[in-house]
Amino acid sequence: MFHTIPKPVIERMKSLEEMNQCDRQDGTPAKKRLRQIPPQTGRFIALMASMAPDGKIIEIGTSGGYSTLWLSLACSDRGRRITTFEILPEKVALAKQTFDLAKVSDMVDLVPGDALSYLPDCKKIAFCFLDAEKEIYQQCYDIVVPNMVPGGILVADNVISHETILKPMVERVLADTRVDALVVPIGSGVLLCMKQA
Ligand SMILES: C[S@@+](CC[C@H](N)C(=O)[O-])C[C@H]1O[C@@H](n2cnc3c(N)ncnc32)[C@H](O)[C@@H]1O
Repeated sequence: MFHTIPKPVIERMKSLEEMNQCDRQDGTPAKKRLRQIPPQTGRFIALMASMAPDGKIIEIGTSGGYSTLWLSLACSDRGRRITTFEILPEKVALAKQTFDLAKVSDMVDLVPGDALSYLPDCKKIAFCFLDAEKEIYQQCYDIVVPNMVPGGILVADNVISHETILKPMVERVLADTRVDALVVPIGSGVLLCMKQA
């Protein structure tokens, strides 16, 4: 998977990495920044998604589509699709440009709007990457987990970088007997959960 990344995907990843770096340096306001995952977290979610059982692959928080490109590697390997949710119109436009330029539009369903309105209808989830505002993590988790297939995987980003705000959610997940979970110190820290069979 990582040895055969298509050239248009590599090129768009590089340009998004540069845009993300500039955001951090020039003090762009938080809402406008890409706030994307680092490459090692991209590799991590791609590997996890490629090991997920049959079912839907979803992402909550698209931004410019960088993490979606990593997930697309797992999808193209197994002929699967990914559904990704983004609330801000300017990010939706940027992500659309990303998917067109990287030539992955045929495997990505980009859903504009509040993910919380669509998630209840998302059934048979095999893999979920949760990377939106931290205030909605618990709500997203509570909707997604009952809709996951046995062995389904959920990865939530920023649980170390945003430890204070996410601590109550992480503690509840670690104590949730429906899943096996742990915190993995990669990138900003991810919470990895697998639904019990
Ligand atoms: C941290 S960024 C996502 C970065 C992206 N996953 C990446 O690594 O390239 C979070 C994104 O979630 C979006 N977002 C926040 N709340 C949302 C919601 N309720 N529904 C959909 N998207 C949301 C934000 O607009 C923002 O673009």
